[in-house]
Amino acid sequence: MPSARPSNTTASAAQFVPEGKGWAALRSAAAGCRGCELYRDAHQTVFGEGPVKARLMMVGEQPGDHEDVEGHVFVGPAGRLLDKALDAAGISRPEVYLTNAVKHFKFTERGKRRIHQQPRRSEVVACFPWLREELRVVKPELVVCLGAVAAKALLGPSFKLTEHRGEVVEHDGLRVGVTVHPSSVLRAEDYTTAYDAFVADLKALKKVL
Ligand code: URA
Ligand code: SF4
Repeated sequence: MPSARPSNTTASAAQFVPEGKGWAALRSAAAGCRGCELYRDAHQTVFGEGPVKARLMMVGEQPGDHEDVEGHVFVGPAGRLLDKALDAAGISRPEVYLTNAVKHFKFTERGKRRIHQQPRRSEVVACFPWLREELRVVKPELVVCLGAVAAKALLGPSFKLTEHRGEVVEHDGLRVGVTVHPSSVLRAEDYTTAYDAFVADLKALKKVL
């Protein structure tokens, strides 16, 4: 397999991260991040949001088209599905700190449409310093990864989501729960089964809090 270009192998947000700062300073610094190439085509950095003292943090993959335009996490179709599932699981979205493994929208253009592209491992690694800082300031009791990209960002590239969904693992002093990404529910052939399984995971994870 051809390796990533040298500029990508060293890509990192690290040099843009102010040391030891609070959430607001991190968010404004992230707005100017050029840690990898994804800032070039996107509208803006979409930083995490929610109570800085949240007990529960949820991590998605990356902002989508709507999030990129509006500058807020989970405001598009995946966000609406997430809202509904959180409600069904008895979790209050305003009490959750919501963020993403990668803070810029990655896409390809097809006519007027911008089609989501999964971030590369090098981009997830480049963006990780922001997530690490969010974890430092929020100090959640539980972090729930929504989908494989988030799970691999926190638990390593060999982590198998399908073998552990609905479970909590201890990692680097963090309690990390895993479930699928809400977009996978929207894409599922059998929506009802996929949705019910997602809600069941969220209910199981909520018990850990
Ligand atoms: N999908 C994500 O992973 N995050 C968002 O913010 C929106 C869609
Ligand atoms: Fe920086 Fe992350 Fe955006 Fe890359 S995706 S430019 S590392 S904020």
